[in-house]
Amino acid sequence: MKRENVSDKASVEVKPARNILGSLRVPGDKSISHRYAMLAALAAGRSRFDNFASGADCASTLACVRDLGCTVSRDESGAVTIDGLGTQLRATSQPLDCGNSGSTMRMLSGILAAQPFTSELIGDASLSRRPMKRIIEPLTQMGAKITATNGDRAPLRIAGGKLHAIDYQPPVASAQVKTSVLFAGLLAEGRTTVHEPARTRDHGEVALRAFGAEVERTQGGLAIQGGQALHALEALVPGDISSAAFFLCAASIFPESNLVIDGVLLNPTRSALLDVLTAMGSRISMVRVEESHGELVGTIALVPGQGRQVTIEGSLTALLIDELPVLAAIAPFTAGGIEVRDAGELRVKESDRLSAVTRNLQAMGAMVEQTENGWRIPGGQRLHGAEIESYDDHRIAMAFAIAALRAEGDSMIRNPECVAISYPGFFEDLEKLEER
Ligand code: S3P
Repeated sequence: MKRENVSDKASVEVKPARNILGSLRVPGDKSISHRYAMLAALAAGRSRFDNFASGADCASTLACVRDLGCTVSRDESGAVTIDGLGTQLRATSQPLDCGNSGSTMRMLSGILAAQPFTSELIGDASLSRRPMKRIIEPLTQMGAKITATNGDRAPLRIAGGKLHAIDYQPPVASAQVKTSVLFAGLLAEGRTTVHEPARTRDHGEVALRAFGAEVERTQGGLAIQGGQALHALEALVPGDISSAAFFLCAASIFPESNLVIDGVLLNPTRSALLDVLTAMGSRISMVRVEESHGELVGTIALVPGQGRQVTIEGSLTALLIDELPVLAAIAPFTAGGIEVRDAGELRVKESDRLSAVTRNLQAMGAMVEQTENGWRIPGGQRLHGAEIESYDDHRIAMAFAIAALRAEGDSMIRNPECVAISYPGFFEDLEKLEER
């Protein structure tokens, strides 16, 4: 079966490959695109973002921003322009549909909490199962009135209003929570501080600064003074390293691979994957590294090699949270295998990613031990092709498309269309790099 247009297919076939060869650019970073769009809504004037993320998640954010009164347009090159309204958005009579996107719901809530109107946020079945108490708690402490199903699940009803600053220590390491509180802090009275239990991606604070706000790094935390005005921003969104991760991991498990990824995000809070792949034996070089509005961008080249067993735990787990499914999916093909600890958060992603990975690896005949908050996966295994379930989770579908390349025999990935959440052209790009 040709792979183009998986959008209406119940499954897609993946055949074994011999190599990953070539170069590509990946779509704009999802985390940065969400934040840019939300802050552009609060800025004065017209913002423009080239290479804005092409997936459905960021389209959900754009639709919400439009529903809140901003003019949003997108040209054929993928550039998005947003006319900001300043700090006050427009009330909507319809619920704001966040689709599958936890980032949209959690981070936008921080902004809506400060608006002088009531909003309702809804999501799809997966998003409606995901925990929201983590943002309800701090935003309520700041003065918003929020109701949710069982106090924790979407739909959320947010009666916004004047907020006051808080000093907050989230119980979970989550960049979405940190960003939600910082966005609310921008619109609150006083100085809000957030102390993270473990360092997470810093795009919230970097983007706030790019739009002209001051965000201070304090001892183990961040502080933002409320009432700062934002100016519009023109920026190029770097390629998403969490999307590049699938191809980097694929290249690392074929001895003759040679892969180059151009214009990709190299922010140190997102690039821990490169250290892990290096420990697992790959040689990675970076060239043309530049800074763009506080974000590092560059070109990565990878050639594979034999390395050692890797253990991912503690703060490293938090930094690799979106790359763990693909690392686990390639682990059986590595020399030393992988152990992942402290990854309980994977249970509350778009699917229960701990179980989804375990079941799919087992379907391919892998030895895998699922622990309470991670896996132990020995290296040096041979896997067979299998029927893979995506669990309607984009990162599970893509992770196992990669594992399937090294299996013996063909695999079928069921419900592959979910890749469009973050990477609509994933299967086409993969096909261009595979050598058979
Ligand atoms: C994201 C943070 C992470 C990550 C998600 C995007 C962000 O979620 O899994 O894909 O852009 O802040 P948590 O903050 O819930 O860990």
